[in-house]
Amino acid sequence: MAKRQLRLGAFMRPVSIHTGAWRFPGAWPDANFNLAHLKTLIRKLEAAKFDAFFMADHMAVLNMPVAALQRSHTVTSFEPFTLLSALSQVTERIGLIATASTTFDAPYHIARRFASLDHISNGRAGWNIVTTSNPDAALNFGLDEHMEHDERYRRAREFYDVVTGLWDSFADDAFVRDVDSGIYFDPARMHTLGHKGEYLSVRGPLNIARPVQGWPVIVQAGASDAGRQLAAKVAEVIFSGVNHLPDAQRFYADIKERAAKAGRDPEYVKILPGCFVVIADTVEEAKAKKKLLDSRVHPDSGIATLSSLLGHDVSGYDLDGPLPQIPETNAGKSGRQKLIDMAAREKMTVRQLAQHVGGSYGSLEMIGTPETIADQMQEWLESRGSDGFNVLFPWLPGGLDDFCDRVVPELQRRGLFRREYEGETLRENLGLPRPKNRFFE
Ligand SMILES: Cc1cc2nc3c(=O)[nH]c(=O)nc-3n(C[C@H](O)[C@H](O)[C@H](O)COP(=O)(O)O)c2cc1C
Repeated sequence: MAKRQLRLGAFMRPVSIHTGAWRFPGAWPDANFNLAHLKTLIRKLEAAKFDAFFMADHMAVLNMPVAALQRSHTVTSFEPFTLLSALSQVTERIGLIATASTTFDAPYHIARRFASLDHISNGRAGWNIVTTSNPDAALNFGLDEHMEHDERYRRAREFYDVVTGLWDSFADDAFVRDVDSGIYFDPARMHTLGHKGEYLSVRGPLNIARPVQGWPVIVQAGASDAGRQLAAKVAEVIFSGVNHLPDAQRFYADIKERAAKAGRDPEYVKILPGCFVVIADTVEEAKAKKKLLDSRVHPDSGIATLSSLLGHDVSGYDLDGPLPQIPETNAGKSGRQKLIDMAAREKMTVRQLAQHVGGSYGSLEMIGTPETIADQMQEWLESRGSDGFNVLFPWLPGGLDDFCDRVVPELQRRGLFRREYEGETLRENLGLPRPKNRFFE
């Protein structure tokens, strides 16, 4: 039997998650806003046969004090659809995943943008469904308060039904374009959604032909109970934030079981933890590179990042003591719990925890040689901690080049990663079926 294959996404917003990335020797400090650089990077990722280029998105600058904000490149970036449309024109196979929020957008807008991106890219679009955890986003959309966490997920579920229903507005053969009779489309092959629900009211139909992939690939990253439940019901790719193999295996088993209970084939739910990689000829050298990178992060950024991830200001705590009890939050729940667990497990002080997350946000880290990193990725894959990884590069372009030039060939040599794309669309490359049109098939 063929070996299970790794799926690799490239986490490209911000271009590097690490707060010190833009200050690393040889890094491109302006990579976030330099289209020429982004074109070079996506071409390199496509040559390495990455499954997808992933753009996170946020509806506000990070919720941290300006003293920390001013030091970070991770708060600003291009808007995903504008960028991915441009990048679709310099690539042919790599998937293009955009993040869009179900809390701060309208389903008709989202259905149109993804349908357009899918047509423009010949079937390479994916939608990362987020409910937006940063409470400051509300202030940019005419609201005083952020919608409550579980309610955000209830709205997200209804939103998904509406968006996918809109994508099914036209049968695949609806557009007859009969020049002789003058009929452009067959009205019998058009469906008007007529949705009126708890949160949304949308008549339809969508004014765009059904996407090339039927539906763009559905991606999700929520990991709280409400987040997992939504992911298990709808997501085809799940970005997880786990940073510890036993936790990852529990998360993996839980999601696959929830998906099976929801009547889905668990094979069609691919779980990809974010994975921060630093590569060198020896493990010691890789650790030294990471140390140099971490030294480029100002202490203000560490404390502010930790406060933002915990949804609670920790700047007044004893930095050399253990992390005190942190109150519940209406921001992201699972990331907060992961850090609380990590601090307890590794007996970290607040200062140590802040240093750790101030750089790579507490992601899973693989720091070593191409061989040791391939060993770790293989272990995660084979012990069902993941189906692949969403790779976070430590700086650009060097960290991305190292991964593409050195780790990818090692994974290919082991038969764990493709040498050629299997298909044309993102679905074909991920081995996901094309969804049936619920109104016409
Ligand atoms: C790899 C990864 C990428 C994410 N990207 C985004 C993003 O682009 N925008 C966003 O608002 N949230 C993003 N999130 C946050 C999740 O959507 C979610 O809010 C978070 O994992 C907390 O889960 P919960 O909302 O279920 O508590 C991301 C999370 C992970 C692990």
